[in-house]
Amino acid sequence: MKVGGQHFRTIWLHPANERVVQLIDQRFLPHRFVIEEVSTVAQMATAIREMHARGAGLIGASAGYGMYLATIEAAESPAVAGFDQYVADAAAELKATRPTAVNLTWAIERQLTSIAKGKTAQEKIDLALRTARQIAAEDEEHCRMIGQHGLKLIEQIARTKDGKPVNVLTHCNAGWLAFVDYGSALAPVYAAHDRGLPVHVWVDETRPRSQGSKLTAWELGQHGVPHTIIADSAGGHLMQRGAVDLVIVGSDRTTCTGDVANKIGTYLKALAAQDNKIPFYVALPSSSFDWTIRDGSEIPIEERGAEELKRADGWREGQILEVSLAPESSPAANFGFDVTPRRLVTGLITERGVCKADEKSILKLFPERAS
Ligand code: MRU
Repeated sequence: MKVGGQHFRTIWLHPANERVVQLIDQRFLPHRFVIEEVSTVAQMATAIREMHARGAGLIGASAGYGMYLATIEAAESPAVAGFDQYVADAAAELKATRPTAVNLTWAIERQLTSIAKGKTAQEKIDLALRTARQIAAEDEEHCRMIGQHGLKLIEQIARTKDGKPVNVLTHCNAGWLAFVDYGSALAPVYAAHDRGLPVHVWVDETRPRSQGSKLTAWELGQHGVPHTIIADSAGGHLMQRGAVDLVIVGSDRTTCTGDVANKIGTYLKALAAQDNKIPFYVALPSSSFDWTIRDGSEIPIEERGAEELKRADGWREGQILEVSLAPESSPAANFGFDVTPRRLVTGLITERGVCKADEKSILKLFPERAS
């Protein structure tokens, strides 16, 4: 998508040096647009853990490139136990960075299968590079398709609105910054806006990391999509007043039965949407399905440091400054995600189309997953 009129993806290989991965360092948005260069597995693990690169799809694409860097390191490290052991250790290091988004494990496992097919170190490096590129390209294409399928839902609502904007509420950031391009929850919004449909987005602030006010608002603004930032607790009020036509959120992991893990606070939005009879859709590429678990309670929920809740950072006089918000002595618990049960989900928007959030409907779209 566009940044200052120029097209960017969130991650790419350095055009002049194939041993370097470049990514947008999201810690500095919306104040500064910083591109980070990553050339080791350790740097990629830090970038994922510390959320320079975040969001389910982008975590997967970053891990894909991280595994490619692992093969280069393995070939250059004769002192270690052996190529395969080095790559396995790198896979474990990357897998340990963040627990909830299933795209991480999915991308690493895909890379391990691919790398295992190479006979020489160079063949393994070439396979890892090809797979990293494929993971990124598929992520982009799947998100583009999610946009096209979700567009039909927005078009349907637009027909009932007499030219007035369709009001979409979203939580966290499931826009292009959370993927390689386009996004999941925001892809239909971009498609509608590009089609000339009037659309407006209520952007949940999304404390404590503020992905909504920092990232979603920024990327919508860059693309010219009308939007308004709201406090996380404002959604129910807006729904009661008829100011929300549709909720679309993303997902970090969705079970094969349709339970959805997404950024903390999503469940409360789903409850409010149901109470107000507002459609609640979840947009996700197939890489965010966990085909191995059947119940949302089995999804690992990331707990991050208390300092994310007790402090905030912002921009002042050309610098990012951190301030303290809470009593230093008070403990804080920082749950990163929650699970919205399938009964609260109107539908899932995937690259293959829209389906109900139940096993039968999901498997109809993905029959190859039926055992
Ligand atoms: O902690 P993050 O920023 O990596 O969380 C991911 C998210 O932005 C959301 O949960 C999002 O809605 C799903 S990821 C596309």
